[in-house]
Amino acid sequence: MSDDFQQRVTAAMANPQHMGEMPQADAVGTVGNADCGDMLRVWVKFKEEGGRKVIDRASFQSFGCETAIAAASLAMELIKGKTPAEALAMRGEEFAKDLGPLPPTKVHCTSLVEGALREALTPTGTVSSPAPPAKPAAAPPPSLMDTFNKPEERKSGVKVVFLKPGEA
Ligand code: FES
Repeated sequence: MSDDFQQRVTAAMANPQHMGEMPQADAVGTVGNADCGDMLRVWVKFKEEGGRKVIDRASFQSFGCETAIAAASLAMELIKGKTPAEALAMRGEEFAKDLGPLPPTKVHCTSLVEGALREALTPTGTVSSPAPPAKPAAAPPPSLMDTFNKPEERKSGVKVVFLKPGEA
């Protein structure tokens, strides 16, 4: 890892912006990377501006590495004022461009940011999604993934999505 890159990450980590839960968020997205074990959650609040729904503010929490935190901090600022579609069109490299070229081992860290935003900004990423209808008694038993994702998620409004290798 280059000294320049590490210095930029360290500088971003010295004063990360937009960290913390947003109680009145309109949308939330949570992703995890099964390979490194890191997780990132973002909250988004929208507003109307010029007849368009745009991102008023966003915040994040991370159980992740410094690069993911630094990129998330930058991303929360970059998506302000954008429509959900505009924010969804942004890639992880754009969020981290102020950090300089990423070492290959750190590219997936920005994918975590991109993935969490995708989960928050797609229609199923809303906080107040309604509970699903009850399963019929004859339904097959839930898989491990169902158990992990669905029952508690529906009660708490939290859904964790694991990124697939190569997926952003
Ligand atoms: Fe996994 Fe950075 S090492 S997100």
